[in-house]
Amino acid sequence: MPGGDEIRDGQRATWAGLSAGWEKWDSVIMDQLGPVGTAMVERLGIADDQQHLDIAAGTGEPGLTVARLAPRGHVVLTDLAAEMLEIATRRANAQGITNVETRVCSADDLPFRDTTFDSISVRFGYMFFPDLARATTEFVRVLKPGGRLCSSVWVKPEENPWTTIAMQAIAAEVVLAPPDPDGPNMFRCAAPGYVSALYQAAGLRDVAEWDVGVELVTQSPAQYWEMISEHVSLAVAALQQAGEPARERIANAVIARVSTYEQDGQVRVPGLARCIVGTK
Ligand SMILES: C[S@@+](CC[C@H](N)C(=O)[O-])C[C@H]1O[C@@H](n2cnc3c(N)ncnc32)[C@H](O)[C@@H]1O
Repeated sequence: MPGGDEIRDGQRATWAGLSAGWEKWDSVIMDQLGPVGTAMVERLGIADDQQHLDIAAGTGEPGLTVARLAPRGHVVLTDLAAEMLEIATRRANAQGITNVETRVCSADDLPFRDTTFDSISVRFGYMFFPDLARATTEFVRVLKPGGRLCSSVWVKPEENPWTTIAMQAIAAEVVLAPPDPDGPNMFRCAAPGYVSALYQAAGLRDVAEWDVGVELVTQSPAQYWEMISEHVSLAVAALQQAGEPARERIANAVIARVSTYEQDGQVRVPGLARCIVGTK
């Protein structure tokens, strides 16, 4: 099992490398993940003067949505990868959002005083942290009493064909090491109750979790493959081990498989996320 520094260095490099793909496919990714952000923000009960912290904010969501709902408030977007937060700043500027700032930091070591924030969001970040319990303790430390934490993670691979279609085709060509259950990976927090237990251990109350469906919509099977192979962490890492002929076979297999999801000129592939909320 790699140590915390090794995990952080690996994640920083991975997400710096993926950032161009996230910016290129911004509208497709944001449409796919939007329903999860909406569900999270609804449970946070945002006031117009909310002080909000978005952890692992990446290109800015759901923090930028909170900033729009809190014109007299303030949102801090944090992430380990400066390159992701640079995109968040460009997106904020493009949307005319001014009540946000960005801070590069790791979720398990936050540069904020105790009881600073009314609410915290962590959309699809938990599974990448080196020490999940320590990160949760940090979130609770910086929350005000009565403040809420809401995060989201992916439910098991079988419920997420939008990514497993590609991963199965890659696995047919490349020998993939089995994921370390205690190391960063997309499905590390998939077990029901996994994140709730972390919340409860850190002292949060009124903990609840619920599932939210998503749909990845692309204009063709070829566009689906182009997009997945440029921004999904698991796929990008695995493809680095494949030579050109294998990459071509993988692309053909993925395109054939995903064609079964074509309807009315679009490719719509489902997925399932879980949201978890708790109160300090
Ligand atoms: C899947 S992206 C999610 C981005 C955004 N929240 C969204 O839903 O669109 C995961 C993000 O977690 C960040 N990350 C990974 N390890 C982290 C850590 N230890 N602390 C903070 N952020 C981390 C990555 O840099 C990346 O931007």
